[in-house]
Amino acid sequence: MKRVYNFSAGPAVLPEDVLREAADEMLDYNGTGMSVMEMSHRSKAYEEIITQAEADLRELMNIPDNYKVLFLQGGASLQFAMIPMNLMKNKKADYIITGQWAKKAYKEAQKYGDVRAIASSEDKTFSYIPDCSDLDIDEDADYVYICENNTIYGTKYKELPNTKGKTLVADVSSCFLSEPVDVTKYGIIYGGVQKNIGPAGVVIVIIREDLIPEKTEDYVPTMMQYKIHADNKSLYNTPPAYGIYICGKVFKWLKKMGGLEAMKKHNEEKAAILYDFLDQSKLFKGTVEKKDRSLMNVPFVTGDADLDAKFVKEAKEAGFENLKGHRTVGGMRASIYNAMPTEGVVKLVEFMKKFEAENLK
Ligand SMILES: Cc1ncc(COP(=O)(O)O)c(C=O)c1O
Repeated sequence: MKRVYNFSAGPAVLPEDVLREAADEMLDYNGTGMSVMEMSHRSKAYEEIITQAEADLRELMNIPDNYKVLFLQGGASLQFAMIPMNLMKNKKADYIITGQWAKKAYKEAQKYGDVRAIASSEDKTFSYIPDCSDLDIDEDADYVYICENNTIYGTKYKELPNTKGKTLVADVSSCFLSEPVDVTKYGIIYGGVQKNIGPAGVVIVIIREDLIPEKTEDYVPTMMQYKIHADNKSLYNTPPAYGIYICGKVFKWLKKMGGLEAMKKHNEEKAAILYDFLDQSKLFKGTVEKKDRSLMNVPFVTGDADLDAKFVKEAKEAGFENLKGHRTVGGMRASIYNAMPTEGVVKLVEFMKKFEAENLK
């Protein structure tokens, strides 16, 4: 068996222990004689799986009782529509544009109301997080929207925006469970799980109960009403059952690793190995303002597209997969999510040093 160091931005590396456990349980889950994939989502065995997954997530993130946890489908992208459909009472919302995902969410929301971009870092290819301490927030805005960790560009909010009392909605797809968060600061925290938590196809929405409307506009599909999913404990229809089961295993793994404080420490130490190298390298350089650097996605370049391509090719041959930067920005990007072991980053830096020695003119 061969396992590579997988630096994919998503779907991404998962903890090996989780994959092994899932493999062991593939044919017979806990004496049921069947795989979780084959099991009714209304069975007692499955009810235990989803209930336990929610309980473990609540414990990890310290989610207050007045927030619902929903396991939904449609990826993070479906939330770009579901959020305005459910939250827009005044038909107004303010968006902060820090990358392509925030921009897509902003464009989608425009279909449903009067949506403004109140700050942006597009002027410098999204290489920083704008100052959000005193933004021009609409008095009638139903919410303020951010993408908290920008997967493509490698930036992260180190401080949440001052929303002047308005509800904060955050896409945390690429920083989910990477460090502790204060859930009470948000109205909605949501993310696709395929980066830090589990298989693509599941999106987790943590939403403050009072934001769930009793009634949405008539055009809103039943499947896109938060209330339907909240009232039915994420079992209105067949949920992405196997995916949720894997998420549950990752929650258990995180608890075993010491929870989110321990994860933060692990992620800071791991990212520092790569950033410290980039900061002194004569060949490679990071592309993001230091103060806004993500712990999860680390983009870097040599400044020469041919050399970048050579690096990606040789890295792949050496067992470091998926280091090519996003198709829209080029260069390289190492995504080093929770499940990437420190050893993977240490070995990558060793490889980068060797490449630098061989290629520096
Ligand atoms: C921050 C962020 N938001 C949203 C998405 C879109 O997620 P999905 O493909 O689950 O719709 C991604 C995907 O990579 C992402 O990184």
